[in-house]
Amino acid sequence: MKFQEISDKLTRFIHKYNYLAEERSANVLFLLKCIVLKYLADNQQLDFEAHQKAIKKNFTLDYVLAIWQGRPLETPFWGQEQTEPQPIGDEIWAWVSDLIQSSPALAGENPGLIGNLYEASLLLNHKKNHGVFYTPENIARYMAADVLEAFSPGNQQQDFRVLDPACGSGSLLSAIYDAIMVRSGDLTPEQQATQHRQLLETGLLGVDRDPMACLVTRLILTLKGKEYVKPLGIFCGDILTEELVAVQSVDVVIGNPPYVGHKEIQTDYMKQLKNRYGEVYRDKGDLSYCFIYRGWELLKPGGQLIHITSRYFIEALYGKPLRAFIRKAFAIQEIVDFNGLRVIEGVGVDPAIIRLLKTNRIDDAQRIQVKRFFIKNHKPESYSKLIESLVQTDQPSDFYESFELSQIQLNDDSWRLYSPLTRRIIEKIEAKTPFTLDNVVHSFQGIITGNDKAFIFEATDPVRPGFESCWLKPWIKNKDVKAFEVAKPQKQILYTNQISAIDEHPELVAHLEAYREKLKNRRECKNGKLAWYKLQWGRDPDHFERRKIVFPYKATQNRFAIDEAHAYFSADVYGLILKPRLYHQITEEFLVLLLNSKLYNYYFKSYGKKLGDKLYEYYPNTLLRLGIPDIKDETIKVFKDSYDRILELKKSGDNVGLGKILAEIDQWFYVFFELNQIEIAAIETNR
Ligand SMILES: C[S@@+](CC[C@H](N)C(=O)[O-])C[C@H]1O[C@@H](n2cnc3c(N)ncnc32)[C@H](O)[C@@H]1O
Repeated sequence: MKFQEISDKLTRFIHKYNYLAEERSANVLFLLKCIVLKYLADNQQLDFEAHQKAIKKNFTLDYVLAIWQGRPLETPFWGQEQTEPQPIGDEIWAWVSDLIQSSPALAGENPGLIGNLYEASLLLNHKKNHGVFYTPENIARYMAADVLEAFSPGNQQQDFRVLDPACGSGSLLSAIYDAIMVRSGDLTPEQQATQHRQLLETGLLGVDRDPMACLVTRLILTLKGKEYVKPLGIFCGDILTEELVAVQSVDVVIGNPPYVGHKEIQTDYMKQLKNRYGEVYRDKGDLSYCFIYRGWELLKPGGQLIHITSRYFIEALYGKPLRAFIRKAFAIQEIVDFNGLRVIEGVGVDPAIIRLLKTNRIDDAQRIQVKRFFIKNHKPESYSKLIESLVQTDQPSDFYESFELSQIQLNDDSWRLYSPLTRRIIEKIEAKTPFTLDNVVHSFQGIITGNDKAFIFEATDPVRPGFESCWLKPWIKNKDVKAFEVAKPQKQILYTNQISAIDEHPELVAHLEAYREKLKNRRECKNGKLAWYKLQWGRDPDHFERRKIVFPYKATQNRFAIDEAHAYFSADVYGLILKPRLYHQITEEFLVLLLNSKLYNYYFKSYGKKLGDKLYEYYPNTLLRLGIPDIKDETIKVFKDSYDRILELKKSGDNVGLGKILAEIDQWFYVFFELNQIEIAAIETNR
């Protein structure tokens, strides 16, 4: 593969001449110059043989581009590069000539390839910390075609402007350029040249904080032409805090903004952003939210914004202000929800594509086109097939469901992207659920010790001499909680939060002494709020001592069980305690049967927050919104019998009997909620 061969060659060069690597940008600039030279030579826009001696004496970008143009540049191509002659020594020149003359040729290649080569040279760590993951070519192509659907070349394009506010190495602008040129296929060569000039000088705008990325974007756009034209719209800077582009001046914003959580942003910068973008960016919001707001400011009325971004804003608690803003300021045109499929390899974030039209008149009938991928295992090799399938709109896809939704159906608490079938099922459930789970239970989180070694004991640990048993409590973790079943606790926690004077318990001090310094170092101890020997977040011990429902915080499916062992648990488990049963007959047994049912798995997953392609977050705020039916007392008794039977069958290992009774319960709920066969089939196959 050409790309790999060249990329390997560049990497080998960096390793060999590693004194160069101390200055990353000098290094990258050198390699970029080599690639530009090669690209021009391979595409016969520059006669390498004829000019090699002169280039060796003056290896600057301006000089190479001047040879292409046939005369010196009027203004430097790249302000950050020295413009005085830059000679190279024989050894390095030999490598340059070899790269240009004997590597696979770049004739006819899309100059966008230079962006890929640039990306391959970035260190992975740098990428993660700065949210620098560039959009793969196929996704960029899809987004460009999607947002330009109504665009046709001609007079309208005179002041047509497209902005990528975080352009990186230009993959999205490159795709926009290509899409516009394809649509201009019927123009004469002169008209196409005019179009090229217009796009580079006024039509395509890009901003990035990384100067080298801006250089790459400029180069890619420049090399797309048959003659040298300098791109004038690529600016290095911060789109969120600097006035680099006039407000209300662009027709299209296309972006893959950085997704950076609140923990990774410097405090001063975050403060500045929260002041400026407070309407959408609060608490633990994501930096990418600011980009949507900023995009809206920069768009002309009637302009469109398309972003590939993290899908978390669809459901995240802290995404609520953003969701409210989007619904108010935009007509939502399209949402592609990859549903946890990480189609940009190497990025630890679940992407979605969202296309919005800036308008201050949102029509009640505004329809949103949703494409939501089915939850299935796909190998990275097949991702390109999945992306390509997005353009085939005439037939139902095997990979995703496609449906329309009306914008007024979205509720800012969480956007539930329901297909008509799912919507019918959920409406049927919610028509027969006068309560929410929140009405019938309290929830509470598990314990954070602040130092597990000090407080948690394995069953195999030697018995602690003199430890009073009242300080040791059974301890469970996430993996111990299964549907209907909590594994017998194998560990114990030393629960010290009820001790007011630790010195009265020399045996405990003797044990904790070894951890004293570390324990004192916990934030709450340092600021005087917590005695050094206590658990960091010990919660209310009464909650653990009661009969309660427990469930894991992260799981692939609903796993609710009643804990009879008064277990204490870590923060990866939550507990539910029944509120006084004055207004309803709900019992723990009934709730566990309901919550573990196939129907309630489907129901919760229809709006629960996803993590990756299979895992869900069982955050109480979300979970407690589930509707709960009003059930008669005698029915509750029948459920109690079923529950007891399930425990017996589990104990005896009778899986056939167990499957049968669970299926009967599922059936009971289907009948209760009046679901038809099509709806039941959707739940059973989890589509
Ligand atoms: C996820 S990359 C996407 C790049 C490009 N849009 C693409 O799709 O290939 C995000 C880019 O945002 C840039 N960036 C981060 N914060 C920025 C800011 N406040 N203003 C402009 N660019 C920024 C980073 O340098 C990085 O190149």
